[in-house]
Amino acid sequence: MAENGSARSDGAAAPIPPAKFAHAVLRTTRLNEMLEWYRTVLGARVVFQTPMLAFMTYDDEHHRLALAAFPGTVERPPRSAGLDHLAYTYANLGDLVATYERLKAAGVTPVANINHGMTTSMYYRDPDGNKVELQIDNFPDTESLHAFFKSADFAKNPIGVDFDPDELARRYRAGESASELTRYRAEKGLNRATMARLGE
Ligand SMILES: [Fe+2]
Repeated sequence: MAENGSARSDGAAAPIPPAKFAHAVLRTTRLNEMLEWYRTVLGARVVFQTPMLAFMTYDDEHHRLALAAFPGTVERPPRSAGLDHLAYTYANLGDLVATYERLKAAGVTPVANINHGMTTSMYYRDPDGNKVELQIDNFPDTESLHAFFKSADFAKNPIGVDFDPDELARRYRAGESASELTRYRAEKGLNRATMARLGE
């Protein structure tokens, strides 16, 4: 008997992974400020709101992010254990650059910009200090990604390389290709100040 297109499991079969990642919920002490920030950054819309809760989405999922101002919530100390960041992948470099430019014009700028080899990533901080990574995949398919994991460049520097987002945007607008602009230059390494900003 099929249920939602798959056979019913007796519980002894192989574990069934979730069908998708649905949403994250952030507790906050500044609901309205957080709501405006995520509305701006993700282009998200509010689908339901009470004085204590806001549900937001940016696609056909009913909510992708909820913000909860539960009574008694306290500020999260820097460097606390738990979730480090949320990451969102854009369809292509043009979308990432356009988002960077739009956010910069709105006064929202990244705290760190890193080419990790597998991704080109811009890290922002929301009003509560949570990190949000806006990224693209640098490789078009899994074969080229796996080849990168086996490369000397990745062995030399598996962490990442800083980049200047204004330079990236300028060169993209000048017509340089995404593959050239996202090429991993392992020898450049990652600035200690960038590491420190990410670690806070
Ligand atoms: Fe990440």
